[in-house]
Amino acid sequence: MLSQHDVHQRIAMRKKDFSLERALYCDPGVYAADLEQIFYREWLFAVPACELAKPGAYATMQVGACPVVVIRGKDMRIRAFHNVCRHRGQRLCSKVSGSTPNLVCPYHQWTYDLEGKLIFARDMGVDFDPARYGLKKVHCVDLGGVVYICLADVPPPVADLARTAMAYLAPSGLNEAKVAFSSTIIEKGNWKLVIENNRECYHCGGSHPSLCRTYSDNPRMTGMQSSEVAEDGILAHWKRCDAAGLPARFVHHPDFQWRLARIPLLDNAESFTMSTRAAVAKRMGQMPFNDAGSLLMYHYPNTWNHFLADHAITFRVLPISPTETEVTTNWLVHKDAVEGVDYDLKTLTEVWLTTNDEDRQVVEENQRGILSPAYEPGPYSVLQEEGVIQFIDWYCGLMGRRLAPQPAMAAQ
Ligand code: FES
Ligand code: FE
Repeated sequence: MLSQHDVHQRIAMRKKDFSLERALYCDPGVYAADLEQIFYREWLFAVPACELAKPGAYATMQVGACPVVVIRGKDMRIRAFHNVCRHRGQRLCSKVSGSTPNLVCPYHQWTYDLEGKLIFARDMGVDFDPARYGLKKVHCVDLGGVVYICLADVPPPVADLARTAMAYLAPSGLNEAKVAFSSTIIEKGNWKLVIENNRECYHCGGSHPSLCRTYSDNPRMTGMQSSEVAEDGILAHWKRCDAAGLPARFVHHPDFQWRLARIPLLDNAESFTMSTRAAVAKRMGQMPFNDAGSLLMYHYPNTWNHFLADHAITFRVLPISPTETEVTTNWLVHKDAVEGVDYDLKTLTEVWLTTNDEDRQVVEENQRGILSPAYEPGPYSVLQEEGVIQFIDWYCGLMGRRLAPQPAMAAQ
């Protein structure tokens, strides 16, 4: 197991524009450093807000060693807490999701309200002060319908992302949506391989026949290009969206930790369906036309999303071991859309259920190959894998800075 010093050295010695060395994809010390330096410090996508529609609705997630519960309060605000009882540490909620008027510990029934305040603890004596034993808070923001959490004491700034996401997501009306279907799979691969695979479509032609009916694998369409060099097709799409008041143009964080852009689907396809037509009769929010394409939004380290005219798909990535990653996908539709009337669940979900499974297979085979002693880092295609290069640059830059030895204190 590599020490943090070793991890820093391996990252400092990596060859630019090449895949990383084996240890960085499987070593337990690297996994621990990834959790410490990234997953315990950065904003993480947790849930679509509409999954927690009513007061008391909650969802749980496991971030490394930290169980977290995200719950909607009576005031309709969504909050997050460490899912750990302040009595003797029992995990409070063990289910993936549910609804409860209060959070009751299953061990000795200490009870917390939806704001995390301890409101019941039996036989604790007259000197016991419940105010000292509220649930520990986790930072939580709702960025216009997508809820992010941060485990750090002091989270990184989120104002730019919040402003941008709220403007771009507003037409999708995510607070007037519902979860039509949810899927969680485990991919036997390091979390970075899952993100790398998502950040390029070099593999799409070979792996994703269903997705490629509607989604362009042209890197100039879906890649990291700015508007000045974008394809004519995308510029025409942006002009049409501009005219309809639909934010569409490429916008990103200075270090590309996040990016949003609305891209057209192939040949005016409307949705990720086998027929290429809309899967849901009722459009999302204020979406002005069916062929609005997909608003792509990723945020490192753990999410990518597609917001279409008829539905939206959110993806959440959580590492569960050095070589295993949980991927949760949610399909959102207008809350008034009725299954069997306005949409057929199979039509809505089949392309991305298939695509997720195809991606799981390539990630698992990628991990198997990397575990071979014969593996050595190979070159990324600068034409096709710009997104991967940029993710790996972001990862190595951040880890390099955070793992760098601290300068010795100046002599007094
Ligand atoms: Fe929760 Fe005892 S550990 S009530
Ligand atoms: Fe893929």
